[in-house]
Amino acid sequence: MKNIKRSWAEPYKMKMVELLKMTNPAQRKKALKEAGYNTFLLRSDDVYIDLLTDSGTSAMSDRQWAGMMMGDEAYAGSRNFYHLEEVVKDVYGYKYLIPTHQGRGAENILSKILIKKGDIIPGNMYFTTTRLHQELAGGKFEDIIIDEAHDPENEFPFKGNVDLNKLEKLIKKHGAEKIPYVCMATSVNMAGGQPISIKNLKELRALTKKHGIRVIHDMTRVAENAYFIQQREKGYAHKTIKEIVKEINSYTDGATMSAKKDALVNIGGFLAVNEWDVFEEARNMVVVYEGLHTYGGLAGRDMEAMAIGIGESVSDGHMKARVGQVIYLGEKMASYGVPIVKPIGGHGIFVDAIKFLPHMPQDNFPAQTLAAEIYLDSGVRTMERGIVSAGRKTNGENYFPKLELVRFTIPRRVYTQAHMDVIAESAARVYDRRIKINGMK
Ligand code: F0G
Repeated sequence: MKNIKRSWAEPYKMKMVELLKMTNPAQRKKALKEAGYNTFLLRSDDVYIDLLTDSGTSAMSDRQWAGMMMGDEAYAGSRNFYHLEEVVKDVYGYKYLIPTHQGRGAENILSKILIKKGDIIPGNMYFTTTRLHQELAGGKFEDIIIDEAHDPENEFPFKGNVDLNKLEKLIKKHGAEKIPYVCMATSVNMAGGQPISIKNLKELRALTKKHGIRVIHDMTRVAENAYFIQQREKGYAHKTIKEIVKEINSYTDGATMSAKKDALVNIGGFLAVNEWDVFEEARNMVVVYEGLHTYGGLAGRDMEAMAIGIGESVSDGHMKARVGQVIYLGEKMASYGVPIVKPIGGHGIFVDAIKFLPHMPQDNFPAQTLAAEIYLDSGVRTMERGIVSAGRKTNGENYFPKLELVRFTIPRRVYTQAHMDVIAESAARVYDRRIKINGMK
């Protein structure tokens, strides 16, 4: 009996359940047609298992719900703000906190403060709202992620890494004064939830320091990144997630956060910085766009739930089960031959729609088509992450991203292993009849 495998399991049990509506194929066909074949436009009542996003869809703990009852709904100086501020300092290590209604609220303020017209913002792959705020502030995004990140089959363990040569070239070409900061994301979303290594971060810090350039961290999924460092990077196996998260942040000058992911809340985010001047400006600006600097568009109870959620998110047991569930689903899908992005990332499984539907040109929207087919098959809702998400240039032409993916995003602490089986089987069914699938206009 020596070789029996030791499974992970959830470090929690259920106290309340939310009933789901089951649909039949005819109902799904009708719902999808009404949604213009766009899974974003489906009513969630018509969805069985919702994998559209891991954003704001997590299940809160009994402690977080109890915290909601401790909300201090004062207009200014709510006790929950001070609690959150303390947690951000303790767990994340950033000095000054500006709460915002969600991540993009922080991106807006940061971009407006740091970016001047004509500036260059290098980043390890774009995220939709982040890039848009940079562009709206007059900047231009430049992708400096390593080439491996654009190859869904490359098994490099840190596909979120920055290519320092690409960054050096940009500095040479434009001059450091044109680069207000490098936008560094952990668990790079559009690459498939791929982590950056501590080694790469240290090198990035050294290079940016030499040129006086800031590193601003999109820390939306930093704890998931820390888990991969613990599992894969030499010298980190015995460190806790909490220690690794703090070390990651120590190589950066500030952060934007969508707390709707890692931090286990349904709404909330923040901007955190170490520079007093930037903080002062942000504190004035947040009043215009979000609300007073001690609530930033959130209720006191939301800030309390966030403060508690941040603590839970950096627990080793939580992260083992969180990523364990994602890996379980990915391995099951791969065992049916479904082409997925490798290595499996932290927040979901990304199916390679170009390999799944090789007969379909990219401007017939293979990923959008595949998401629609999965919904028709089982009521599972997934998200397109390809040519549609990439948006259009100002002249109306499509961007043609190298990655054309369907994201099966797993909400935290919400679904069971049996749900994962149903999802994998549905993907396998659609894969079986892939040759018969036509694209969209
Ligand atoms: N940065 C990253 C890496 C994100 O994934 C998101 C949101 C944001 C910033 C913006 O934060 O939504 O709170 O305003 N991602 C969601 C997703 C929408 O489904 O991946 P937000």
